Amino acid sequence: MFIVSPSVLAADFAKLGDELKKIEKAGAEYAHLDVMDGIFVPNISFGAPMISSIRKASSLIFDVHLMITEPQRYVDDFIKAGADILTIHYESCENPLEVVRYIKSKECKVGLSIKPATPAEAIYDMLPELDMLLVMTVEPGFGGQKMMPDMLEKVRKIRKYANEKGIKIDIEVDGGLTADNVGLATAAGANVIVAGSAVYNAKSPKEVIKKMKEAALSNPFVD
Ligand code: DX5
Ligand code: ZN
Repeated sequence: MFIVSPSVLAADFAKLGDELKKIEKAGAEYAHLDVMDGIFVPNISFGAPMISSIRKASSLIFDVHLMITEPQRYVDDFIKAGADILTIHYESCENPLEVVRYIKSKECKVGLSIKPATPAEAIYDMLPELDMLLVMTVEPGFGGQKMMPDMLEKVRKIRKYANEKGIKIDIEVDGGLTADNVGLATAAGANVIVAGSAVYNAKSPKEVIKKMKEAALSNPFVD
């Protein structure tokens, strides 16, 4: 299934409840929530208390992307705050598999994210345990960057590998996605698209999401 997950990082924080309503009406299925600690990435965003208060304002699926070191320290807090899918970074702790299993044991969907320098092969063994793999298409830390086209090769490799092994998994791409390049991402095998500035800065988010869905339909993954 093709899913659009607008990143709230590009929204107006003074009226987050309305911003979430706006993307829901515009046809988004998820809300992508970027948590940054100023250590794993050189930027600070927001934490569990903020998520817990916007939880009351939205019925979108909360797709929480943790860009924090040693995420195991805060997993319980984010689940309690209302995360539906909790994604940690492969590079953020000693034993990501242990954290993945812990999240699953809490009956929360689990994702694993890889930075641009992390090769596909590093996470092959973990794929069967994941609900979602997030391939970063920019260096994590900031919205509004340009998508790195090389990363789509990595997506293709992982989708091919998953299909060969019969592993059903969502592959999310994050960073620099627009209505103009979404087709390249879906053709490479991605099916969950994060889009911050492309959706929130648009005059008509509805139009952008519609275009993204059309692009996905006309650019399926072909082996
Ligand atoms: C970057 C974040 C992204 C970011 C995407 O570290 O993980 O989710 O907000 O923003 P755009 O779509 O503007 O590149
Ligand atoms: Zn993100």
